[in-house]
Amino acid sequence: MIVCVCKSVSDRTIRASVAEGMDSFDELQFELGVATCCGKCEETVREVMAQSGACATRCGVSHAHPAVMPQAVPLTFYERKAA
Ligand code: FES
Repeated sequence: MIVCVCKSVSDRTIRASVAEGMDSFDELQFELGVATCCGKCEETVREVMAQSGACATRCGVSHAHPAVMPQAVPLTFYERKAA
């Protein structure tokens, strides 16, 4: 799914970037351009990063790491917008 509509960045691209070693939001923002236009995707980008195994202290996610919260069900960008 597309996470950042402004820059056409998908969750796959974010996961691949995290797998390649990008583990901070700032790094991802610089390399992919996420959250540099309207900024509405920032929260979702951080969630995808956390789901991908990026360390919570580096990605800025304040909740516990998803690896220890298996029942957490992520909302998509559009589901959150509709709420
Ligand atoms: S949706 Fe990502 S900057 Fe607008």
